[in-house]
Amino acid sequence: MEQVSVGLVGLGTVGAGAARILTEHADRVARRAGRKVRLKWAVVRDARKSRDVALDGVRVTTDVDQVINDPEVDIVVEVIGGVDAARRIVLASLAAGKHVVTANKALLAEHGPEIFAQARASDRAVAFEASVGGGIPIVNALGVGLAANQVQNLSAILNGTCNYILTQMTLEGLPYADALAAAQTLGYAEADPTLDVDGTDTAHKLAILAQLAFKAGVPTAAIPRQGIDRLQLADLKYAGELGYAVKLLALAKLTGSGLELRVAPVLVKRGTPLAEVRGPYNAIRVVGDAVGDTFFYGRGAGADPTASAVVGDVIDVAAGRALLTSRVLDLWSADQAPTPLLPS
Ligand code: NDP
Ligand code: HSE
Repeated sequence: MEQVSVGLVGLGTVGAGAARILTEHADRVARRAGRKVRLKWAVVRDARKSRDVALDGVRVTTDVDQVINDPEVDIVVEVIGGVDAARRIVLASLAAGKHVVTANKALLAEHGPEIFAQARASDRAVAFEASVGGGIPIVNALGVGLAANQVQNLSAILNGTCNYILTQMTLEGLPYADALAAAQTLGYAEADPTLDVDGTDTAHKLAILAQLAFKAGVPTAAIPRQGIDRLQLADLKYAGELGYAVKLLALAKLTGSGLELRVAPVLVKRGTPLAEVRGPYNAIRVVGDAVGDTFFYGRGAGADPTASAVVGDVIDVAAGRALLTSRVLDLWSADQAPTPLLPS
């Protein structure tokens, strides 16, 4: 059986989760991919740090170029986060003929057109299921499963950290700062948690979903957004007394004149599906003209759910399907007719 080799760049929450699945479930991965998938490299910043994952047979390095230039490496998995270094690694990997798997929504929201142009030029795949919704396969659902539809409406909880904080404040009465600290300890938050709580991470994800659902080329900066960082325990308490939960929602609506996009804390009637989403879970309600109402639900942050999506993409690449999928999901290509964004 022909073997595929992986260079895993980043061994934090998501990288360690992906390494665990690739090594502990190597037989399952090989069966699903139709070939052995070898984790050859792991790239980190600090090679002396102890890791919560067995790395027998895996070469650990701080030199990412060693991995990008290794002719045996077929797939580079970028899970370091941030934009500048990640952009360089992804572009260089594609230029070197590697397929790329990434969980990096900030990178795609800000540099999607450049990255997909390089992927087309190099005839390589960029797979990004983990970038939105953690373990929920919403990228493939929107890009492939619901492709027959004109999506009309999308409302979603896309940030596990914020939903965890709101849940802890509402149900446990935990102060905001303590709930945020717990979300960081649990590995849900970004390295800079401001991105979570000020709504930027949700806006990055909404920009990606807008590409998939509406073919809309939307810069994140054009999406009006408000986070949860100014909410107080009293706001949540009064909302509850009136029969509402406060949720940080990503909203997209197609109207006669264009697309309305927004990220904001919203009062959601208790007992409705979005209001009952708790902890680090995400949920995405998509209304399509043919399918009608659909609802996707699952863990939106954390090591294992995110690794589920990352390794799913690795298997897709190893099985030889990802190049096709990447073209289907390449909504930054020039032949897409963009949907105009309404001014806020
Ligand atoms: P972490 O901060 O936990 O891990 C980052 C890893 O990358 C660390 O191992 C770090 O090395 C390494 N690293 C950082 N910069 C460099 C660099 N320049 N060169 C080499 N290695 C580097 O991040 P997460 O795992 O939480 O997140 C990774 C990505 O996944 C981000 O894009 C994030 O947005 C995304 N994501 C995260 C989810 C989550 O639940 N955490 C869910 C979905 C997506 P060292 O360990 O030595 O410091
Ligand atoms: N920080 C992000 C969140 C990770 O909490 O949703 C998943 O993208």
